[in-house]
Amino acid sequence: MLRRTLAIPILFLAASLGLAQNKPNIKSVPAGQSDPTSGKGMFVSYCAACHGKDAKGAGPAAQALRKTPTDLTILARKNSGKFPAVAVKNIIMGDPLASAAHGSKEMPVWGDIFRSLSSNESISKMRIHNLVSYIESLQSK
Ligand code: HEC
Repeated sequence: MLRRTLAIPILFLAASLGLAQNKPNIKSVPAGQSDPTSGKGMFVSYCAACHGKDAKGAGPAAQALRKTPTDLTILARKNSGKFPAVAVKNIIMGDPLASAAHGSKEMPVWGDIFRSLSSNESISKMRIHNLVSYIESLQSK
């Protein structure tokens, strides 16, 4: 039972990491597309394997990583109560400066992945925007 439910996110994780590294043709990547207007839907598809469905960092793939995925529900609390929207956006896009500051090597570069899903730049921006808004909505007080 447990094995069965774990298999899907881990398989998708492998696909997304391959995509980040090799930038292959999107047709060869099964779990690629999602609704760009749904921050929650994208979070479940792309982020929950590592960060967990509740975004607290305990997704099924988390133990395979060297670094623990960040608890994304306390970003505001860690930043004097203000949600760090720009930093979160940069980290998701894979901004090299933001990544260096956070030592982010294990997290896929979503900016590249989203650009490979659609040649329309505004759709990639919409994806990032809706993901950031969704994460903001999860902040605990
Ligand atoms: C392969 C596993 C993995 C996936 C998939 C993943 N992350 Fe991460 N993420 C991490 C790890 C590990 C860290 C923390 C350590 C680091 O910086 O590498 C992290 C850190 C972050 C941070 C930094 C928080 C901070 O300021 O300290 C944000 C924001 C984030 N992830 C958002 C996302 C979003 C949004 C998605 C989906 C689009 C996602 N992550 C998918 C592994 C992952």
